[in-house]
Amino acid sequence: MLNPIEPLLIRSVAELQRWSDTARSLRRRIALVPTMGALHAGHLSLVDVGYRHADRVIVSIFVNPTQFGPAEDFARYPRDLARDLELLRKVGADVVFAPPVEEIYPNGDATWVEVERLTSGLCGRSRPGHFRGVTTVVARLFNAARPHLAVFGEKDYQQLAVIRRMSRDLAFGVEVVGGAIVREPDGLAMSSRNVFLSARARQQATSLHAALHEARALVRAGVRDAAALCHEARRRIEKEPLAEVDYVELVDAETLEPVREIGAPAVLALAVRFEGTRLIDNTLFEAETL
Ligand code: PAJ
Repeated sequence: MLNPIEPLLIRSVAELQRWSDTARSLRRRIALVPTMGALHAGHLSLVDVGYRHADRVIVSIFVNPTQFGPAEDFARYPRDLARDLELLRKVGADVVFAPPVEEIYPNGDATWVEVERLTSGLCGRSRPGHFRGVTTVVARLFNAARPHLAVFGEKDYQQLAVIRRMSRDLAFGVEVVGGAIVREPDGLAMSSRNVFLSARARQQATSLHAALHEARALVRAGVRDAAALCHEARRRIEKEPLAEVDYVELVDAETLEPVREIGAPAVLALAVRFEGTRLIDNTLFEAETL
């Protein structure tokens, strides 16, 4: 790396607001990249997207308790701040915001942020309360970092759409920018949860990408019917003995409502469990691919 920046580690909301106000008064454009740590190349690519659109990048690292359900993996979610800081030192980030829980959720707080409709299907259906936790923490991070823009990965397509809507509806003045899905060489979308996969499950998990790849080939060959595309994708994944499909759905790229066929831009989204580890992936059919 030619010019590694030593990131400034900030742990309090008030200090981050002061840093951001100073940068804004110097007319710097600020990007925020929210993460839960256990960083991989997918997260780091979002930092690059941030620098493409801004002069300063803040990366937040906070494992947000309110977005995990009671039976989910909050306690065992991977945490390694020292390693994350080292990675961010290499790619460069101006600030790493790693607050303790009380900074984000002060004692006695009473406010939730909830986006309706967009959160009712897909992951919202199998993870009740998840998106309420995501939008609440992201609203608090926006108010702490006061960024001009924030970068989210297209891997979590529904999350990106939900946050875009929240930022618009609540007039945060934060532009929400998407970053492309970063994959392992065999196609598996990078995820902090991939470390939970056994060798067998890891191998079978490549079926998610394979199913999406095959769906793209079908669309190129002229197939438009949602039922046919979802059926084929599900069949491909269910060839794997450990795969338990949560959903395979074709939805409108903006409203996330299920569609019967591809006309307007649409997303084929899927969620699959392998030995209890839930993986998601998706592919977007844009106007030009149709
Ligand atoms: P986390 O899972 O750590 O992901 C942080 C960001 O990295 C998200 O915007 C996610 O979409 C993006 N990301 C993850 N894997 C990616 C990949 N393979 N390619 C590209 N981008 C990828 O998503 C969250 O944390 C949390 O819900 C958060 C938004 C931080 C709120 O707590």
